[in-house]
Amino acid sequence: MIHIAIDGPAGSGKSTIAKKVANKLNIKYLDSGALYRIIGYFFKEKKNTLDENTIKETLDKLSISLKDDFYIVNGEKIDKQIRTANSGNYASTVAKIPEVREKVNLILRNISEKMSTVIDGRDIGTVVLPNAEYKFFLTASAEERAKRRFNELIEKGEDVNYNLILKEIKERDFNDTTRNIAPLKCAKDAIEIDTTSKNIDDVLKEILNYIDGDFDES
Ligand code: DC
Repeated sequence: MIHIAIDGPAGSGKSTIAKKVANKLNIKYLDSGALYRIIGYFFKEKKNTLDENTIKETLDKLSISLKDDFYIVNGEKIDKQIRTANSGNYASTVAKIPEVREKVNLILRNISEKMSTVIDGRDIGTVVLPNAEYKFFLTASAEERAKRRFNELIEKGEDVNYNLILKEIKERDFNDTTRNIAPLKCAKDAIEIDTTSKNIDDVLKEILNYIDGDFDES
């Protein structure tokens, strides 16, 4: 088995790259941010609260299981609902709660015990899979990341404002890097790649070059 951690801030390209790496190596891709988004979405939209104590007390009742490439949450298929800017903000809030992080980490580790995985997130190389064979940390300037997010949302037909996206990206960076528990940071043994002036294919090639060409999935 092989485990690959791809961490970095919002908009660094880590999800796109992680999916492509998993595809190329024919192994499972796991998006850890999706799990925080699910928990944030569930509590805010279904229970109308993001109160820390309520979340801690009822977290056990939330059942999350992976089915192919989507999650089933308390029997309901959750997919596109968690991709909104609001869900990203809810995720950032619940991600500060230690019990939430434990739950997410357990799900990711349970799957990774059974199969090879590429996981993207903020703390995969530092906390979730500290023994991962390969760790990458992707960065890009806040302006470049805002530009990417802006173009992505425009393509989806959303009405968006660049300055607002830049402000949100900076706020999210601040939240993610300054929280007490598992803050966003580059693992000591991770390979750091600045993607600001690189396209997806260049970064993918760079990452695959580090991973043995004779990698055997067995
Ligand atoms: O990558 P994303 O935008 O889907 O992540 C949503 C939020 O979840 C982000 O603000 C930080 C949090 N997160 C985290 O704390 N740890 C992770 N491993 C992944 C995401």
